[in-house]
Amino acid sequence: MDSMYSEYMVIKAKENGVHVIGLTRGTDTRFHHTEKLDKNEVMIAQFTDHTSAIKIRGNAKIYTKYGIVDTDEE
Ligand code: TRP
Repeated sequence: MDSMYSEYMVIKAKENGVHVIGLTRGTDTRFHHTEKLDKNEVMIAQFTDHTSAIKIRGNAKIYTKYGIVDTDEE
């Protein structure tokens, strides 16, 4: 697989019903997949040829190489 997509991010849900939404790569930016996580469920995801952005809806902790983001941070 292309090494430009080697980075993973970890999304840990802190409540039930967190949505991890994949947005398409290319001229057309739209949702292509929604994954629902319940409390304490973890998803490990990469950017791919099909996914250029990831939107997280709900209370979650996101671990990336840039640091840790908490969605409920002020
Ligand atoms: N089939 C999708 C892809 O290869 C799966 C995927 C990868 C995905 N990363 C994601 C879905 C992040 C949601 C969020 O692009």
